[in-house]
Amino acid sequence: MIIHSAEFVKSATAPRDYPPDGPREVAFCGRSNVGKSSALNALAGRKSLARVSRTPGRTRLINFFDLQVTKEKGRAAQEIRFADLPGYGYASGPKSETAQWQEMIEQYLTGRESLAALVVLVDGDLGAQPSDVEMVRWGESLGHRVLAVATKLDKLSRQRRSQQVDKIAGQLAVPSLIAFSSKERFGVEDLWHALLSA
Ligand code: GTP
Ligand code: MG
Repeated sequence: MIIHSAEFVKSATAPRDYPPDGPREVAFCGRSNVGKSSALNALAGRKSLARVSRTPGRTRLINFFDLQVTKEKGRAAQEIRFADLPGYGYASGPKSETAQWQEMIEQYLTGRESLAALVVLVDGDLGAQPSDVEMVRWGESLGHRVLAVATKLDKLSRQRRSQQVDKIAGQLAVPSLIAFSSKERFGVEDLWHALLSA
C-alpha cells in the first residue's frame, strides 16, 4: 500500500460535529487500550497520527482522519477516512461515562451514512472478552461489515499465535480473523487488503 497523505480532520462527539459524509469510512473499535490508535498509525505508516497512550481510556472523542492511498504503483489514488472510536470496557470509569460512550457510539453506528466497515480489535494476548463478542454482534446486527483483528500478537511466541487466532475466531464466531501487531508491523497489508475490498 502506498500512503500519499494522512491527516487529522477533527474530533467530534455528536453527529452535528462529524465531518460531512464523504470518503468511505472505516471505524476502529475495541476495548480501551487494546491498540486501536496504534493500529490506525500502523496502517497510515505514521508514528503519531493518532495519539497512543499507556493509560486506558485516552481517546474519548471520535477522531476522524483522511488518507489518500494507492493499492499499487500505476493505480489511481483513493480516499478513505478512518474514525478512531473511544474504547469500551474501561471499568474504573463512572457509570455516567459508560452511558455517554454508549450514546456516542450508538449515534455513530446507526447514523453514519459513509460508514463502510467496522474494524473490531481484540487483544490477541488476552483473548476475546464478552464485551468484544457483544461489539461484533452489535455491528453485524446493524448491517455493518465487521473485520475482526487480533492485535498485540507480538506478545505471543510464534507457535502460540496461530492457536490463539483460531481460538479468538471461535470465541467471536467470525469466519476470519486478521493476525496483527502494530509493534512488529505484521498484518498491516492484510488489513489494508480487507479494508479496500470491504
Ligand atoms: P484508548 O484510545 O485508550 O482506548 O486505547 P487504544 O485502543 O487506542 O490503544 P493505544 O493504541 O493507545 O495503545 C495502548 C497501549 O498498547 C500503548 O502502550 C501501545 O504502545 C500498546 N500497543 C498497541 N498496539 C500494540 C501491539 O501491537 N503490540 C504491543 N506489544 N503493544 C501495543
Ligand atoms: Mg486510542
